[in-house]
Amino acid sequence: MCGIVGYIGTQAATEILLAGLEKLEYRGYDSAGIATVWEGETHCVRAKGKLHNLRSKLEQIEIPAQIGIGHTRWATHGKPEEYNAHPHMDTAKRIAVVQNGIVENYRELRENLKQKGHLFVSDTDTEVIPHLIAEFLKNSSSSSDFLDAVRQAVNHLEGAFAIAVISADYPDELIVVRQQAPLVIGFGQGEFFCASDTPAIVAHTRAVLPLENGEIARLTPLGVEIYNFAGDRLKKQPRLLNFTSTMVEKQGFKHFMLKEIHEQPGVVRANLEAYFRNDVNPGESPINLGLPTELYNDLEQIHILACGTSWHAALIGKYLIEQLAGISTQVHYASEYRYAPPPLTANTLIIGVTQSGETADTLAALAMEKERRQGKEPKYQARLLGITNRPESSLGHMVPHIISTLAGIEIGVAATKTFVAQLMAFYALALDLADRRQTVAPEKIAEIINSLRQIPKEIEATLESQERLTEQLAHEFAETQDFIFLGRGINFPIALEGALKLKEISYIHAEGYPAGEMKHGPIALLDAKVPVVAIAVPGTVYEKVISNAQEAKARDSRLIGVTPVNDGEAAEIFNDLLPVSHVDELLSPILAVVPLQLLAYHIAARRGLDVDQPRNLAKSVTVE
Ligand code: F6R
Repeated sequence: MCGIVGYIGTQAATEILLAGLEKLEYRGYDSAGIATVWEGETHCVRAKGKLHNLRSKLEQIEIPAQIGIGHTRWATHGKPEEYNAHPHMDTAKRIAVVQNGIVENYRELRENLKQKGHLFVSDTDTEVIPHLIAEFLKNSSSSSDFLDAVRQAVNHLEGAFAIAVISADYPDELIVVRQQAPLVIGFGQGEFFCASDTPAIVAHTRAVLPLENGEIARLTPLGVEIYNFAGDRLKKQPRLLNFTSTMVEKQGFKHFMLKEIHEQPGVVRANLEAYFRNDVNPGESPINLGLPTELYNDLEQIHILACGTSWHAALIGKYLIEQLAGISTQVHYASEYRYAPPPLTANTLIIGVTQSGETADTLAALAMEKERRQGKEPKYQARLLGITNRPESSLGHMVPHIISTLAGIEIGVAATKTFVAQLMAFYALALDLADRRQTVAPEKIAEIINSLRQIPKEIEATLESQERLTEQLAHEFAETQDFIFLGRGINFPIALEGALKLKEISYIHAEGYPAGEMKHGPIALLDAKVPVVAIAVPGTVYEKVISNAQEAKARDSRLIGVTPVNDGEAAEIFNDLLPVSHVDELLSPILAVVPLQLLAYHIAARRGLDVDQPRNLAKSVTVE
């Protein structure tokens, strides 16, 4: 949510900043801007809308600066207008600041600064930062106090933020700060970078140093110095990233989302390889999550905290854990949990699920849980586990144990391959728990794992057979206004996910329901204009879903079935089929979601929408 990039070195900064912002545009895209320092002035150029608007503006101006900062915005405070776009400047227009996050006490700071004569021109919280830095610089005696002024200013800010600052009076210094919002520094040869996320800098360097909370860094053409907020110098070494810039290219696909849907077989394979052992000896666990036994000992309950698609994965995780390992599991919206937590329970594992590892709601809920358990007797102590695709993220810093979901970087704002990877993490965890607690016989566990090993090629087959089918259906439904998705049992969360995918990228209203709940109200919505997608796969609730689908058909709804290929009964009921292979019901969600992702994708593409960057959304939501 909002992307920051910064550069200092010997090359022209503008193009490097723009290229970096392109890779961060998934974090927000309602306006963008860059500021550079050149010939004793700070030059700031901003534009409303997508990055190409900023690029067109910059084509008219030539500023060969070698230092600069850039920003792509997802509006929090103030409308997405140019005057609210970052960078923001002080009254004298010497200092420029970009921010990702929120300054919670900005009103009070702004009032104070106004009284001291500072002029404000935007509605944003960020604008107080350059003014505050200018105020501290005004009062400082030494000419080397840019870093110190920034340090003093951030000590007055409340909230979660990452910032980058430049000033025309300090043309060789780029100052960056991290306080609960991600910021990574990149090390080149005589040039240094900063960014909210690594894709923005990976074309230039793979040597990176993620800042920790409460750290501030000075980047100059000669190197990087890191300090804490008290001003003490810290010693830190960069590390090497193991991904390349081609991983953030579309590689021939029309959109990142389509590429990422097609990467799912590989993602499942990577997780199978990492977390499931081949040829185990008797007594040896077939699951290898590397988690310590203390996490599992005497476990009585599990609480899972997540948002959006990760919350849907968590619902499937609950099903698996309860049905396989017999542990009572609650799934909470992280945004609700923090302000109305359930009573403290003993021997409870708390799992935070977030693909980005940066979702503020999830991090805040976990932090609250950690805090309320501090100092309590041992059985109430926090046992925290994270499931994330970014182990180096804020979540990775916050919890002691992580299951890394190995999906590779996901650029499309709508989560697809990271969802499937989260499901793999839950299969591994539920089977590990079942194995340790002996709630499922080893032979049955081996059988489930063998079936899991078939899933990559089943996804491949689904992708091959469904690409055309979903594209054809998309033609027919491109103008539909409402959709209902039905599922039951382990596939109810897939109905929710199918509806979320459709609404977020196509802007078509869609609802997911447990199929049995339809008759308790939502059935009133049905008529010939409202198609119903039912996930009907053989298993405990198959017949029930078919009956619920028939109830919808009786109300004239067109029925689309996600169902196995050779099912005679289903073939007769459904108007359209999105066939999937017949697999164990426990594994069916991982296949059933694929045609729903494709259907959403093709409908949005058919409507000519920006599939990878849907309106009003951002890839990682770093505000509560
Ligand atoms: C939907 C989607 C969002 C995210 C949600 C949580 O496609 O991407 O609903 O799932 O914002 O994000 P993470 O998993 O990063 O915490």
